[in-house]
Amino acid sequence: MRKKVLITGGAGFIGMHLARRLADEHDVTLLDDFSRGRSDAELDELRRRVSVITHDLTLPLPEDVPRDFDEVYHLAAVVGVVYSNEEPQRVLRTNLLSTIHLLDWFRELDGATLCFASSSEAYAGSVAAGVAPVPTPEDVRLVVSDPTVARSSYGFSKIAGELLCRNYARAYGFPVRMVRFHNVYGPRMGYEHVIPQFIERLLSGNDPFEIHGADQYRAFCYVSDAVEAIIRLTELPTKETLLVNVGNDREETLIEDLARVVFDTVGRHPGLDIRPAPPLSPERRVPDVSLLRELTGYEPRVGLREGVRRTYEWYARARADREADT
Ligand SMILES: NC(=O)c1ccc[n+]([C@@H]2O[C@H](COP(=O)([O-])OP(=O)(O)OC[C@H]3O[C@@H](n4cnc5c(N)ncnc54)[C@H](O)[C@@H]3O)[C@@H](O)[C@H]2O)c1
Repeated sequence: MRKKVLITGGAGFIGMHLARRLADEHDVTLLDDFSRGRSDAELDELRRRVSVITHDLTLPLPEDVPRDFDEVYHLAAVVGVVYSNEEPQRVLRTNLLSTIHLLDWFRELDGATLCFASSSEAYAGSVAAGVAPVPTPEDVRLVVSDPTVARSSYGFSKIAGELLCRNYARAYGFPVRMVRFHNVYGPRMGYEHVIPQFIERLLSGNDPFEIHGADQYRAFCYVSDAVEAIIRLTELPTKETLLVNVGNDREETLIEDLARVVFDTVGRHPGLDIRPAPPLSPERRVPDVSLLRELTGYEPRVGLREGVRRTYEWYARARADREADT
């Protein structure tokens, strides 16, 4: 069945991959304020197949936004540790107001399903406090580890977002899926995250190569796997509220080993300069994705080496284009 789908934050990283994946089969509308999502050649190409609404969700949705959507993916947010550290007030303001305005609008729709992008950061405080195991399932108690540290703003905004979705769904009787993404990576993910930063620094010739938190573990999930997971969850017929981890549990990776995978991919092998991890950065983060498997039959398909290779190709091309322009 051809569906009408709205993606907030649709010009961003995950949003655009999701839009591309859905655009052939469904009527897709992207909503974004373009604060981070870029109006670049890839979006221009996609514009031929989707509609685009430019709107800042810290303001209520305009009256003329259509109301006949079947599925709404709410991905708009200020994302990234750098923003949580430097502009925690903006992270909180944007992420909370966006979700409230989206929900105030969504509750009037007839029979639509909402998918809300939460994060593994929602439970980072629980792991740090020793009240959640790793790999971490969804049903752990949530703890904000240190509210005086700016970085807590992002995780708190996701905890509050989950509570908002859960309670609006209960009050207005609509189906919601809250998906906790875990280290999703891939082409066009910006420059604020570890994999693109490693690639860029290697291409800039950094030697020795600084690594903060080399002894930490993460489980990286290639973006097409994450997109497949949330599509399957959103189209489930259940009216129940679902809270589900989305990630790849197959390759728990030491950050130092991730660096070596990127070195091999780029073909440069500088010396290492190992530094401490930044404050509140979790030592180990791995999702328990049993619930996702049980509900959807999901299995991650793209391994780390292949995903890093695809990501590197995109960043190397983007860099060459930038250099050609200057
Ligand atoms: N990438 C990951 O690994 C990851 C992990 C956990 C959670 N998430 C969540 O998934 C969602 C998508 O993340 P992403 O990596 O694609 O981030 P992204 O920054 O690429 O995308 C977010 C988009 O939201 C838009 N936006 C920001 N403020 C807005 C506003 N006020 N009004 C309208 N649009 C606004 C930005 O312009 C951007 O295009 C976010 O909610 C994020 O918190 C992502």
